[in-house]
Amino acid sequence: MFSGRCFRILAVVFSFVVTVRPASVANNRPVVGIVAEDYYGRIPGKSTYIAASYVKWAEAAGARVLPIFINQTEEYYDRVLGLVNGVIFPGGAVHIDKDTGYGNSGRLIYKKIHQRNLDGYLPLWGTCLGMELVIYAHLNRNDPRTRCAMQDKALSLQLGETHGRLLGSAPENIIQKLTTEPVNIHYHSWCLTSKNFRAFNLDSDFSALAFNNDSEGRKFVSVLEHKYMPIYLTQFHPEKPQFEWVDNLKHHNIPHSSSAIAVGQFFANFFIDECRKNKAQFPAENNGELIYAYPVSNTGAISIYEQSYLFD
Ligand SMILES: *[C@@H]1O[C@H](CO)[C@@H](O)[C@H](O)[C@H]1NC(C)=O
Ligand SMILES: *[C@@H]1O[C@H](CO)[C@@H](O)[C@H](O)[C@H]1NC(C)=O
Repeated sequence: MFSGRCFRILAVVFSFVVTVRPASVANNRPVVGIVAEDYYGRIPGKSTYIAASYVKWAEAAGARVLPIFINQTEEYYDRVLGLVNGVIFPGGAVHIDKDTGYGNSGRLIYKKIHQRNLDGYLPLWGTCLGMELVIYAHLNRNDPRTRCAMQDKALSLQLGETHGRLLGSAPENIIQKLTTEPVNIHYHSWCLTSKNFRAFNLDSDFSALAFNNDSEGRKFVSVLEHKYMPIYLTQFHPEKPQFEWVDNLKHHNIPHSSSAIAVGQFFANFFIDECRKNKAQFPAENNGELIYAYPVSNTGAISIYEQSYLFD
């Protein structure tokens, strides 16, 4: 029978459940936005693209993907940032400091994500050029980058003093692989040197978690995270080992060892777990905007990406 005592206990249990639940239950249907880039490739009539490896990287960790287009209105960005549980700024080869779609829209999107993180939780991942774009936008268009020679180099990491949330959450076997095996592939002609990391006061908002040396011995930052916001940046490509197989004179060293795959998957799992903390529920009526609605093209023979989403 429902005695008064039993009811009081139930009421206590119930109030406990309703107050604790929203903070502790993961959003297990995360949607991550991936920002498109200006397309300068060989297929005519296409203006923007997303390399499919970024999509697969997010999908392999349990997320769906919403393409975020460039050169759109502020209203569009406000709307899509309210739909997604996190955003990825991919790497690529576009001027982020000039009047390009990725540069202009990327800076605007970063400002809006930063704003949303003042009183919310919208995780952001930046890879390679995506990392450079975030830093450049963060510094209100001061460019802290230095020319460096880091093409087609697979390296292990030199850890910094602080491991942060990102590397601090890595199991010992992942740290072991990260620090002793060439599991991270670099393709960049710009570096954020340790010197400039401090000179541009980036250390007030960001922690430098790991470093590498470029071919001329310059120490640069390879992994960064924001101190107070869920923003994570790598100068190398954690999505390539699993999903990119280009093998030519300039692209020969993408690691495909089981260690490299485990590390790439670790980074994806970490980031998508961060996205699960964002509670926005993607509305079913917007499903038609997800990446599934777009065809993927076989671009392995004409670019460095096996597959690409090419948009008109
Ligand atoms: C985006 O806009 C910029 C500035 O007008 C322009 O230079 C660029 O080509 C545009 N990109 C695309 C893909 O439309
Ligand atoms: C990077 O260069 C510094 C000197 O600039 C040196 O002390 C360090 O051992 C180098 N690290 C690696 C991994 O080569």
